Amino acid sequence: MKTGNSAEELIEVKNLTKVYQSPRGDVLALEDVSFSVKKGEFICIVGRSGCGKSTLLNVISGLIPETSGEIRIAGKLLKGPQPNIGIVFQFPVLFPWRTVIKNIMLPLEVLKLGKKYYEKIPELVKLVGLSGFENKYPHELSGGMQQRVSICMALIHDPLLLLMDEPFGALDALTRYEMNFELLRIWHETKKTILFITHNVEEAVFLADRVLVMTPRPGKIAKEIVIDLPRPRRLEHREEKKFSEYILDIHKLLGLG
Ligand SMILES: Nc1ncnc2c1ncn2[C@@H]1O[C@H](COP(=O)(O)OP(=O)(O)O)[C@@H](O)[C@H]1O
Ligand SMILES: [Mg+2]
Repeated sequence: MKTGNSAEELIEVKNLTKVYQSPRGDVLALEDVSFSVKKGEFICIVGRSGCGKSTLLNVISGLIPETSGEIRIAGKLLKGPQPNIGIVFQFPVLFPWRTVIKNIMLPLEVLKLGKKYYEKIPELVKLVGLSGFENKYPHELSGGMQQRVSICMALIHDPLLLLMDEPFGALDALTRYEMNFELLRIWHETKKTILFITHNVEEAVFLADRVLVMTPRPGKIAKEIVIDLPRPRRLEHREEKKFSEYILDIHKLLGLG
């Protein structure tokens, strides 16, 4: 049964803990993590390397099991991988022997989805800025273009939620800025809910409605910061006093300075 305003909560994470068993002993990667994300929100999670960001994303995607706690996606208790989620990793996972368009079709083949999804491919290719690149092979594309293919693949089955794990971490600074704008445009046009992980504080503040700041291991949410900057976000917002204040606050929470 739904309670309160849970109808608009797309993700509900409650008291999530993750312990990895390793030959050198148990690793407590996440401890008592709770937060929720509303439909259509753009949430960024920042934290230092090793604080459990990827673990959190992998548990939410159902790729690895939680140790305790619970996750609900659209009110349904998460049990294992589920198709309502699209994921983009730091390094594009593309088959080198398949063209762009054939790579994009791959999730549809794996999920055995029908015609309706194939018909939407040209629209999606245009949306992510890949028109004209359909018949190229991955090695013929720049890193930024490869990540556009990854975003397209993550959206192809029309998921409710897009999870992104440092997707622009391997790109040069200018391409990273460009992809930030592109992602905001795609978000605006698709109205997807996005959970975006980064260790780049400026990137998080620039993109997010809210930034969740994680403490070092074991990962906990130290604080949630609402980013009260107008949309659409513009380069000029980076020059505003408020922008640098958010960055300073987050750096302090991360134990810097
Ligand atoms: N499969 C695993 N087995 C044991 N420890 C792991 C495993 N995966 C990650 N860890 C540990 O859990 C912690 C969090 O890792 P991770 O979620 O990858 O952090 P982040 O993405 O923030 O850099 C790290 O200390 C890491 O070494
Ligand atoms: Mg990581």
